[in-house]
Amino acid sequence: MDPPLTNFNPTPFPASLPTISLKKISLSKLLNDDEAESRRMFDVCTNEGFFYLDLTGEPKGQKFLRELHDVRQEAEGIFTGTTMEVWNTWEARKGEGHVSSGYKRAATNEKGGAEILEVFNVAHSDLGDTTTPFQLPSCLSDHTPLFRSTIRSGHNIASIILGALEKCIQLPSSSLTSLHRLSETSGDFLNVLRYPAPPAERHGTVNFPPHRDANSITILFTWLGGLQVPESDAEAVDEDNWRFVEPLPDHAIVNLGEALQALTNGVLKAGKHRVVAPPGNQVNFDKYSVIVSTRPTDDTIMRCLQSPLIPPETEEQISEGNFTIKQWTIRKAMRVMGATHKA
Ligand SMILES: [Fe+2]
Repeated sequence: MDPPLTNFNPTPFPASLPTISLKKISLSKLLNDDEAESRRMFDVCTNEGFFYLDLTGEPKGQKFLRELHDVRQEAEGIFTGTTMEVWNTWEARKGEGHVSSGYKRAATNEKGGAEILEVFNVAHSDLGDTTTPFQLPSCLSDHTPLFRSTIRSGHNIASIILGALEKCIQLPSSSLTSLHRLSETSGDFLNVLRYPAPPAERHGTVNFPPHRDANSITILFTWLGGLQVPESDAEAVDEDNWRFVEPLPDHAIVNLGEALQALTNGVLKAGKHRVVAPPGNQVNFDKYSVIVSTRPTDDTIMRCLQSPLIPPETEEQISEGNFTIKQWTIRKAMRVMGATHKA
């Protein structure tokens, strides 16, 4: 029998805090083609775009849970035991429309340690499945089998979600899943984040500003609070409208990204979110998060798919032309930067 999963939560999430009650979707039911469960998920994905995914009661989910915990276990030693000199040996692959692989930190304190946030991104294409392996730094290369296996498990679960959604949206079988294949190069990656416990003056501050992800599906596992989503779906969110998402044992937090929104011409909705310092006593501990991100394969042309439930493209959309997922991501990033500079 497998040993129990390590509990990495040092202190409970505050009971009195207002939270958002995301729907819980069962991976086991999705795998058993439970139509009612698929429709519940579809309903969420056409509205807030965020849900809990219950990984229990199903070997695929149990395997993924164990891998996520193993990554969390290794992450602590990797972050605390690696110097900037070693991180700097990682000649990261440039993003070209994807999130760049590599190590980044938001700030450095006077002792040389990371502040606010540090993160390493390992791209699936850097692990040697579909391309020549890209050289990982020594602190990561020993963990290549775990990273590869975690990305594959996350991708398989994302495919189960996509398969259920394509039925609900009345698309021909494999319309969405065939655009997301690990056998081809894609921007799938494993993202491991550490938010060091903030000093008192930074309690309550925003560590990651509001955004929607540029991918298709994000599967997040975390142990401390800090993720927030808006209570209302208004584009401009008042400070009062942000609600914590309480991390639950054995449940991943799943959100859709803008690539899936574009492929369905806005029928499926990308979930808006931000990250603030952990609430209550949890603020006194380092927060770790493990994310598996699934994207369309690099050759995907970002035109919306055709179904009775997907509105046809407007003349303006048609006139924009054809873009691969990489070109589409670059255009999107440039628009965001343009908007930011005007603000
Ligand atoms: Fe995000």
